[in-house]
Amino acid sequence: MTEHYKLYEGYIKKYNEITEKLKTADQASANQAFSDFRSLKVDLTFAIGGVKNHETYFGHLGGEGGEPSGKLLEKITKDFGSFAAWQADMKATAMAARGWSWLAYDWQQDKLFNYIGDAQNSFPVWDATLLVALDVYEHAYYLDFQTKRADYIDTFFQNLDWSVVESEFASFEK
Ligand SMILES: [Fe+2]
Repeated sequence: MTEHYKLYEGYIKKYNEITEKLKTADQASANQAFSDFRSLKVDLTFAIGGVKNHETYFGHLGGEGGEPSGKLLEKITKDFGSFAAWQADMKATAMAARGWSWLAYDWQQDKLFNYIGDAQNSFPVWDATLLVALDVYEHAYYLDFQTKRADYIDTFFQNLDWSVVESEFASFEK
């Protein structure tokens, strides 16, 4: 967790630094191959992604795992078939990812889906709300699990606080 916090602090500092620089950045020289303006705009999404992803990650750890209950469990069962099917898909997504596996609610589709992320800023979609963020950058598991990413993912599930996720879902579910 200490490693995550160090990175998290760095993302906040960089977000603030980029936001400041954008105020005076040269728009006239904006260029898609390379330009300061492009770098600032791209890296801003990395920095703010790193902040938001980690806030969700920190917020729902420290629990006792198990399964969610109530409307969240109903929705997971409806959209994935069962809680076990959701967990299997979330784990597979995390094994296939280079950065994150995210459970999010898509407002237009009225559907939960496990999204894959290769970085702090890829590949979220519009009109979706993040519910579970599983960090699979190497800093998340290498110190404790070396290359055994699957064991780290199982431990993540065992420490997930579903009450936090249930509250978030209840705050907007229809
Ligand atoms: Fe992290």
